Amino acid sequence: MFSGFLFVFWYWFMSQLFQNYQRGAIEFVKAEGNDLFDKQGKKYLDFSTGIGVTNLGFHPQVQAALQKQAEQIWHTPNLYQNSLQEAVAAKLIGDKDYLAFFCNSGAEANEAAIKLARKARAKQDIITFQNSFHGRTFGSMSATGQEKIKTGFGDLVPHFHYAIFNDLDSVKDLVTENTAAVMLELVQGESGIVPAKQDFVTALADYCQKKDLLLIVDEVQTGMGRTGKLYSFQHYGIEPDIFTLAKGLANGVPAGAMLAKEQLGAVFGPGSHGSTFGGNKLAMSASSAVLDIMTEDFFQQVRKHALYLQEQLKEALKDNPKVIQIRGLGYMIGIETRADLGQLVQAARDRGLLILTAGTDVIRLLPPLTLTKKEIDQGVAVLKDIFQ
Ligand SMILES: Cc1ncc(COP(=O)(O)O)c(C=O)c1O
Repeated sequence: MFSGFLFVFWYWFMSQLFQNYQRGAIEFVKAEGNDLFDKQGKKYLDFSTGIGVTNLGFHPQVQAALQKQAEQIWHTPNLYQNSLQEAVAAKLIGDKDYLAFFCNSGAEANEAAIKLARKARAKQDIITFQNSFHGRTFGSMSATGQEKIKTGFGDLVPHFHYAIFNDLDSVKDLVTENTAAVMLELVQGESGIVPAKQDFVTALADYCQKKDLLLIVDEVQTGMGRTGKLYSFQHYGIEPDIFTLAKGLANGVPAGAMLAKEQLGAVFGPGSHGSTFGGNKLAMSASSAVLDIMTEDFFQQVRKHALYLQEQLKEALKDNPKVIQIRGLGYMIGIETRADLGQLVQAARDRGLLILTAGTDVIRLLPPLTLTKKEIDQGVAVLKDIFQ
């Protein structure tokens, strides 16, 4: 506790970094599977995956792919053929009729989606949702439905309108002849793990189709198996016109993607949009390895284990007065609580478990999809302990 205080003091006055992150005192120097090790050699079980990024943990197949690619060539510009991008696109798309654009982050993927939608429809208005999160760049920040993310930066990108999540009437109220698209997360992540309701999503998809509005799903946090399927929209039985990926796409190497229906392909002709690093060979080699691991059999196991984790958690925390609700989809789990979030995170760290927060009153768990039952039991035991 005291050393933590000293660290904050030292860090605040001595660090030459911007103080825009609240960093803990630990530095991780090694990882194996689902465990991280700090400088003192202490082991931590990771229920946070670097904020939903290392979805497969520190997987040897991903590591081998990166090592192999680094020995050959790690970057070529998008002026030349890139068979790794083609391979990753094919694995992401399967037999569906989408096209892929690769970039480096979630915000950049959402920027691409916003630009594509505006240009495709020659209209500017986009409806997003209150409490959403879409990124920190001007476009993605303006799309975000949370004031605290946007204050102090002056004029935002205009033409975003914020409907109430899970309320179709509030969407209809905002639609005009200038509306190009509706954009949403199917599980709102940053604001507290709030899943969209099935009825709402079905009706929204129907409505968008009738009104010729593009439906954009931000899968940056929910995608790449996080919810137990490759994409969260597969749970809801819809096919968005556009969707975005990042975080788990290359399991920790920066990568993002925007995928859109083939008929929108002509909107992004030569010179219309781009990214220097997007679809970099190193990132694509990792991504290709990730997608080879994410088979249907793999996801069946993920769903089974994620359900086990949810059930064990509910059992361990039932009747706990500090717990208000446990909710989520697959391995995207929120524990709404009355307890102090900072103290819970620290208590978990002290016991060798890494967890996250979301919003003001939610403990967020984004564990690796590769968790064993033993690791689930270990994590649940720590969570039970810290909530007592
Ligand atoms: C749903 C969602 N969209 C977009 C982003 C932004 O992604 P990035 O930080 O890679 O720009 C995030 C990041 O947390 C996110 O959760």
